[in-house]
Amino acid sequence: MLPIASPNHRFRRLKRSPALRAMVQENSLSVGDLIWPVFLCDGVNIRQPIVSMPGVERLSLDLVVKAAEEAASLGIPAICLFPYTDPALKTVGCEEAWNPNNLTNRAIRAIKSAVPEIAVMTDVALDPYNALGHDGLVVDGVILNDETVEALVKMALMQAEAGADILGPSDMMDGRIGAMRGALEAAGHEGVAILSYAAKYASAFYGPFRDAVGASGALKGDKKTYQMNPANSDEALRLVERDLREGADMVMVKPGMPYLDICRRVKDAFGAPTFAYQVSGEYAMIMGAAQNGWIDGDKAMIESLMAFKRAGCDGVLTYFAPRAARAIRAGL
Ligand code: PBG
Repeated sequence: MLPIASPNHRFRRLKRSPALRAMVQENSLSVGDLIWPVFLCDGVNIRQPIVSMPGVERLSLDLVVKAAEEAASLGIPAICLFPYTDPALKTVGCEEAWNPNNLTNRAIRAIKSAVPEIAVMTDVALDPYNALGHDGLVVDGVILNDETVEALVKMALMQAEAGADILGPSDMMDGRIGAMRGALEAAGHEGVAILSYAAKYASAFYGPFRDAVGASGALKGDKKTYQMNPANSDEALRLVERDLREGADMVMVKPGMPYLDICRRVKDAFGAPTFAYQVSGEYAMIMGAAQNGWIDGDKAMIESLMAFKRAGCDGVLTYFAPRAARAIRAGL
């Protein structure tokens, strides 16, 4: 960086009007940067509010199709599906995860047939189907790695078969990306993309999400034996490098706002398509404060999303997606 050229340099000159400020704006946020995570539930015409995520509802399949239509009409490129599984279908073996007719796979088919232009992303992890609440198979209190990877591959293949465009492995088992990539190639799904949750931290900010997918009750303990320690940064780079080598097309940092330094390091180190997940607890914080009149919700939303672009991200998974899309289109 050059030193400031003149002792008369005044930074305020370029802040004097909206036109001048626009000329020197370094980053921008557009609707094309948004991926919308949505929660699915069984039934028809059902909306179930999630108390800890004001404004977010679980939607039955018919309403998720409508939501996908709305997202596409706003210009949102992708929607990401998370199922609330009937507790009666949860088992220790997690078999529902690779049922070709589970809620997620039915939703993928329904959305792809009604709104083929929107990209459908899935979550690949066992927690919504696991009677024990973990992302992996649990035996005697231990989360098994390689057996979980085998289960995840079955789950991923069924999602690809149903028409998913992007698979999002969020489980943090070792070797899952390579195993999934190999299985996809062998099954003729070479066009299906993988967006790896590569740097995923063991975070308290996932609380409201676990309510939304109904995993809070089942989960005993924490996920520290597979998710990252929030104190670590170099490890994130090693995980991202590993996942890219194993065949991930895109990588994710999660949570988002408390981990913007990680986003920047990942983008600078690899230049790969990099996404952040503005997770449920981040959404809840902004909405909670806004509902109390403590902050301006729309402005805080846009500022928080712009921060991801500034940190080097190509896009953001955010529960704000439709609201942000409307605000961006209105020029906020
Ligand atoms: C689990 C999964 C989680 C989220 C996405 N996938 C929760 C967890 O790891 O416990 C969190 C998303 C959010 O908080 O918005 N496979």
